[in-house]
Amino acid sequence: MCGIIGYTGKLAAAPVLIEGLKRLEYRGYDSAGLAVVADEHMYQVKSVGKVAQLEAVAGQQPELKKLAGCGIAHTRWATHGAPSTLNAHPHLDESGRFAVVHNGIIENYQELRKHLESKGVHFRSQTDSEVIPHLIAGAYEGDLLSAVAAALKQLDGTYGIAVVSSLEPGGVVTARKGSPIVIGLGEGENLVASDIAALLPYTRQVIYLNDGDIAAITADKVDLRNIQNVPVEREVAKIDWDAGQAEKGNYPHFMLKEIFEQPETIENAIRGRIDHEMGTAILNGMNLSPRELALINRIVIAGCGSSMHAGMLGEYYFEDIAGISTSVEQAAEFRYRNPIIEPNTLVIPISQSGETADTIAAVREATAKGAVVTALCNVVGSTIARESGRGVYLHAGPEISVASTKAFSSQVVVLLLFALLLGRNRRLSRSEGNELADQIEQIPELIRSVLLQAPEIKKIAERYADKEDFFYIGRGCLYPTALEGALKLKEISYIHAEGYHAAELKHGPISLLDERHPVLALANDIPGKDKIIGNIQECRARKAPVVAVITRGDSAVRSMTQDVIEVPPCSRFIAPLPTTVALQLFAYYVAVARGCEVDQPRNLAKSVTVE
Ligand code: M6R
Repeated sequence: MCGIIGYTGKLAAAPVLIEGLKRLEYRGYDSAGLAVVADEHMYQVKSVGKVAQLEAVAGQQPELKKLAGCGIAHTRWATHGAPSTLNAHPHLDESGRFAVVHNGIIENYQELRKHLESKGVHFRSQTDSEVIPHLIAGAYEGDLLSAVAAALKQLDGTYGIAVVSSLEPGGVVTARKGSPIVIGLGEGENLVASDIAALLPYTRQVIYLNDGDIAAITADKVDLRNIQNVPVEREVAKIDWDAGQAEKGNYPHFMLKEIFEQPETIENAIRGRIDHEMGTAILNGMNLSPRELALINRIVIAGCGSSMHAGMLGEYYFEDIAGISTSVEQAAEFRYRNPIIEPNTLVIPISQSGETADTIAAVREATAKGAVVTALCNVVGSTIARESGRGVYLHAGPEISVASTKAFSSQVVVLLLFALLLGRNRRLSRSEGNELADQIEQIPELIRSVLLQAPEIKKIAERYADKEDFFYIGRGCLYPTALEGALKLKEISYIHAEGYHAAELKHGPISLLDERHPVLALANDIPGKDKIIGNIQECRARKAPVVAVITRGDSAVRSMTQDVIEVPPCSRFIAPLPTTVALQLFAYYVAVARGCEVDQPRNLAKSVTVE
């Protein structure tokens, strides 16, 4: 969950590292630190809080800004040990000659620590990570890569690490097992990072490490090996994101920028993927022939958070459009409850980052059970994309805000395309396929029209910003939409928000309703609207304030509440998209009105790479 950056080359390392950390801050932001090796000396700076604080502390050592050489840096999301300067990375061995930054969890650290302490080693932090530099120091016999390999062999758990040593200036050693590491190939400089966002200003040529890989990097060489010290070759991938996409531009927050990017990101998800001639979708990355598609008799979708909510919409799409029995699993449940997978079961892992630990484990479980696995990911070359072997990229560009917005909408659009493909493969006629394809192509325009209403949504949001509890209710495809809307509100505004199926309200939660518990009702003009109108009346009868999302021009609900958000008319399959965008804006403006840190909510990190 933390961010790692390492640099070796002609530039002063510290400013490159700090700049890189800023781009990675969304991965964790409770403390940060860096270590630079120059003139055979190790320089180290750490601080609690955000990267800006580290930058201020580093600014007190002006010579740091000029030191050419190599270095590593880290922004932390605490697991073992509270956020503090001592627990911040890099961690050093006792001699101060080896510095390590680590993502992941070392499961046997207590045993290792006890053993090292019995040999007289003094620990400074409460972290699991600190065992690593001590083990490296103990194993060092003149070659850093071999010492790191020897240390790693003693670890149980997961790691993505970067290591520097004052004994080997100019070199960074990096390794991966279960926590992503990517090497950036520059001109006379090379970098290492946990995430490509940090590499974009320097290079688009990258090498993704596989689990068990270890690499020694200098300014002009990358020496790749496996943990047995045998040279390995890895493909050089080209990233098509640019540095500007990972910047805020004129927007006050990444979240707002990413919400407003959705018409374009959805166009990118659709481009080249609709075949009007045949009234179907083209998803080449699926790599499944029409015959193989026809053999699929069950679909299981696995994901977490917003990706799971997108999957829940997929369930409606696959069953309703293609007639294939579908279920959605929280990825951790999929992994641990021994799911039934038959030879013709298609498993679809969904993940923006492609690095979510539970979803990766679900991919492995599905693969081991012989399923056809085909992933939906945003990050090209991510672990899930690579391990699934086949799938569809979202093309949403880098999503920096911790709250997922544009990746969610692209996931939903790709699921619709997939349902179209499977539907045409089974029961849809060409003209029915084309009708759905036309609707999919209209989504960017529908979203543009919701974005134009941002000022009105802001006014409504500000009226509700002092509430502490919220219910979101919906039916059919708007039920997962309600769950997603509630997740957005709770994660960025810290308002307790629960998404419920509207029919479920009467089975318990209605007892909570009063003037302090507003209800956000998704009352779009799609099948089920009459029932939602009934639910709104029930809420109002209990004095709960109601914010309603309605279809533009529909007066039936308007008379029941003054707080109405209009979305354009569209079918039940498409309605979740404009509605979700309205709910994203609502959550955003509530959070801003409450003075919350929208892009980096407390306790969260963008990518949940530990269980
Ligand atoms: O990268 P992934 O899509 O696998 O991430 C899954 C969840 O961690 C993620 O969607 C999370 O729920 C977001 N913070 C939601 O906004």
